[in-house]
Amino acid sequence: MPVVIPPPDPAGLPAPAWLLQILLVFTFILHILAMNLLVGGTTIMAIGLRKGKHSPFHAELAKRLSRALPVVMSFTITLGIAPLLFVQVLYGQAFYTASILMAWPWLSVVALVLLAYYGLYLVQFRPDWLGRWVTPIAWMSALFILLVGLLYTHNATLKLTPEKWAPMYDASPAGLHLNWSEPTLIPRYLHFMVAAFAVAGLGIALLGLLARKRGDSWGDEAVRYGAKWFIGATLVQLGVGLWFLFSLPSNFLQSFIGGNTVNTVVLWAGVLAAVLGLLLVNRSLPGAVLLTVVAITLMSVTRHSLRQMYLQPHIDVNTIPVNPQWGVFIIFAVLLVIGLATVGWMVWQFYQAGEPKQAAASQ
Ligand code: HEM
Repeated sequence: MPVVIPPPDPAGLPAPAWLLQILLVFTFILHILAMNLLVGGTTIMAIGLRKGKHSPFHAELAKRLSRALPVVMSFTITLGIAPLLFVQVLYGQAFYTASILMAWPWLSVVALVLLAYYGLYLVQFRPDWLGRWVTPIAWMSALFILLVGLLYTHNATLKLTPEKWAPMYDASPAGLHLNWSEPTLIPRYLHFMVAAFAVAGLGIALLGLLARKRGDSWGDEAVRYGAKWFIGATLVQLGVGLWFLFSLPSNFLQSFIGGNTVNTVVLWAGVLAAVLGLLLVNRSLPGAVLLTVVAITLMSVTRHSLRQMYLQPHIDVNTIPVNPQWGVFIIFAVLLVIGLATVGWMVWQFYQAGEPKQAAASQ
């Protein structure tokens, strides 16, 4: 069966392809950072709620995480919208096709996100009302969030393989397909999820550091506990990352192991940054945070190069006609800067807030 690709949007690109690609990768990094804190944080909170029955440290950790997670969830969603716009505008031909093929599972993301969000709010504001259901509800939120991530990986991988689209649609146009036959699906998904536990571990260690600075003895154990998650998950990641790399089609794999100098350097510099972060975490937490952000940035660039390689034979965004709409674009850029400044300010306020103030705010 021939490969069928829908034509690009006749309106053309609203800005040059290179600029849209930079913004896509940049906003994707922001989304992924928030998503990591959400995925890892919700699961660690669910674990903490159970362990908290016997351990005051875990009970306190779960309480603090329950206050932060609804905000982290809203960051994840809001910071997901920006890359979604750029994916649609650049790769609409692939994105919409994949989304139509998996229409029902894809639409279920909205319900899963809403239910997970409600769950987080209930755990934060109504723990007494939930009673012994508080831990199961936290687990429900964690599982739904993990499932949303899996559906994103189904969509992201299906998008990259146009040769599957026509046969899939031919087999059934009901919109019930997923991409289970994709050999990279599971290692790719695990690569994202394992990273989430490492980053959430760093987030907990940072919370601990700030608590310690305020003279709160809970902070010492939080720094140690968070660093343990970071170290454990990053060690697992060394294996999962290699699994993902070697599950790639051999021509793409070659490009990351010497075939293409830029791709090879970017990928392995990312791995190096993660390993250095691992070595540094018990000595300098801010240093480990910085190296992890560098690793995530380089990995996101690698992910983009991989997408270009997959789609190159069929879709080349650099050849789509450009029909600039600078007015709209400038409005977007200004709002993005204001939005990011607001988010930065909110995070700063959260970290600055003392215990009594936060408790009062959550009443
Ligand atoms: C709340 C739970 C969410 C989780 C756990 C999550 C997780 C993920 C993961 C794991 C990926 C990478 C997929 C891959 O490359 O294999 C991803 C990509 C992405 N997510 Fe999220 N996400 C969530 C919510 C959202 C929401 C609500 C939006 C949009 C409003 C969004 C927008 C995006 C976009 C645009 C991408 C890039 C897709 C691409 O490049 O093909 N995400 N997300």
